[in-house]
Amino acid sequence: MATNIILLGPPGAGKGTQARRLIEERGLVQLSTGDMLREARSSGTEMGQRVAKVMDRGELVTDEIVIGLIKEKLEQGGKGFIFDGFPRTLAQADALEDLMKEEGQEIGAVIEMRVDDAALVSRISGRFTCGNCGEVYHDVTKPTKVEGSCDVCGSTDLRRRADDNEESLKTRLMEYYKKTSPLIGYYYAKGNLHPVDGLAEIDAVAGAVAAVLDEGKA
Ligand code: AP5
Repeated sequence: MATNIILLGPPGAGKGTQARRLIEERGLVQLSTGDMLREARSSGTEMGQRVAKVMDRGELVTDEIVIGLIKEKLEQGGKGFIFDGFPRTLAQADALEDLMKEEGQEIGAVIEMRVDDAALVSRISGRFTCGNCGEVYHDVTKPTKVEGSCDVCGSTDLRRRADDNEESLKTRLMEYYKKTSPLIGYYYAKGNLHPVDGLAEIDAVAGAVAAVLDEGKA
């Protein structure tokens, strides 16, 4: 059975950062609904224009849209997925379960990244990413080695996200607590929830995630 895992946690918990490590170290495929929606908005499609305003406010996009995006990816085949930022509601979690069954696959581990709210504000306000390869940086905890240039691909296209401001972050956190945090109980009850300390350093978090996967939990 292939390794399929969910990275669950509030905005800024480090889901994207750890997903990139898992791609590099284990060859898994990242399915980030946030990235898919940002791609849709920059392509200027009608759906992209509709979701842009919702994302900038920090609200969740409709279940129908994000489930459709994930369904499309899963139908393309492949195995060993990292679900990053999906599911985010109970309806999305139920839909994912059905989709995985249809594909003859299942979710191994759900990694809950625990970080306190105060840390999230400083993580989000210092974040920037490479527009070319997607590497994630932080002004203080993970600056580029050469100022203005990506360590991985050398691109100078370093960007900050439109929703990485204090106002949207408040809404994103509220959405998380109201709609996404119930998934912690949902996956606990299913028996595949694995909390890790997301406040630890990036390498230590990666080690804790690896320990879960290597214990055969996924
Ligand atoms: P999305 O793109 O999924 O954003 P998010 O969940 O808010 O998560 P982030 O990408 O902000 O944080 P992250 O946990 O990946 O942290 P990162 O690794 O970057 O969603 C954006 C929007 O799209 C949503 O608001 C919604 O509108 C929509 N959307 C997406 N999916 C949806 C869905 N399923 N349903 C409905 N709507 C959906 O790290 C953050 C910073 O911290 C970085 O600078 C990093 O360098 C630093 N950092 C990471 N780990 C550590 C560490 N251990 N120590 C110190 N610094 C660290």
